[in-house]
Amino acid sequence: MRIVKSIAEMRRLGLRWRRAGRRVGLVPTMGFLHRGHVSLMRRARRIVGKDGDLVVSVFVNPTQFAPHEDLASYPRDLARDKRLCRNEGVDVMFVPAAAAMYPRRGGDEFSTFVIEERLSAVMEGKTRPTHFRGVTTVVAKLFNIVLPEVAVFGAKDWQQAAIIRRMTRDLDFPTRIVVAPTVRESDGLAFSSRNQYLSADERRQATILWQAIGRARAAVRAAKRPLRPSALKKGIAELIGTRPAARLDYVEFFDGATLRPASSVRAGTHIALAVRVGRTRLIDNARL
Ligand code: PAJ
Repeated sequence: MRIVKSIAEMRRLGLRWRRAGRRVGLVPTMGFLHRGHVSLMRRARRIVGKDGDLVVSVFVNPTQFAPHEDLASYPRDLARDKRLCRNEGVDVMFVPAAAAMYPRRGGDEFSTFVIEERLSAVMEGKTRPTHFRGVTTVVAKLFNIVLPEVAVFGAKDWQQAAIIRRMTRDLDFPTRIVVAPTVRESDGLAFSSRNQYLSADERRQATILWQAIGRARAAVRAAKRPLRPSALKKGIAELIGTRPAARLDYVEFFDGATLRPASSVRAGTHIALAVRVGRTRLIDNARL
């Protein structure tokens, strides 16, 4: 496995592969890799085949963190990430430095951003107004550097995947976006690098997100007609309230493709929620 830090070197590799007609898959990550990330790598490998090239980028992207968020404390373990990628048969780990991705030019700050304006306005975008601007900007840069034929994202971050798909279409990136299912622990908690922040007690309480999804799913199954989102939201807020460390940020019901709020909830409607457990903000979502 090759570890590439330089943007110029990654770009040369990407160009060479593309000219040679090789299939290139990219899995963008912020590192501290877990089984969710591994499932994306395996999916990408299946798509590009054993003769294709699999690139995993590890970059804790500063522009998607607000000043008060956890950029400085975001968990990092590059040695472990390398072992894991090597075990998965990754061809290239791309690990650029922040100063290389966001250079100051002639003393000026980096000043060009990619902004998706509609899907970014709801849910995560309301609580984290500059977050998706950072995500779309860094993913656009990664696409331009690696030139992947396919890039794989996780359903765990459903809104993010929808926004990246929209950006790719709107800006005509020649990259296919694949979304792979959320990987969960045996008690339902979705794998996330941020689970690392949870104390043992908070970790137990964190199962409330999956239980909330389960409650909505059971209600939809039991109902003979479509349900009112407001009634379901109230029930979920009450359920979250039973865990002392948990604070509901939002719960939304929406169309999985357009992210438009659902006027009624039925099988196939999407649910997403964000919950603070102690000081850790967790998100989850599912199709009902
Ligand atoms: P990160 O949180 O490291 O996640 C990288 C990819 O792994 C994302 O596509 C995410 O949806 C996926 N993922 C995370 N947890 C998962 C799980 N439990 N099951 C399946 N997939 C999971 O998301 C980002 O980084 C960044 O925003 C990034 C896209 C890299 C841009 O900086």
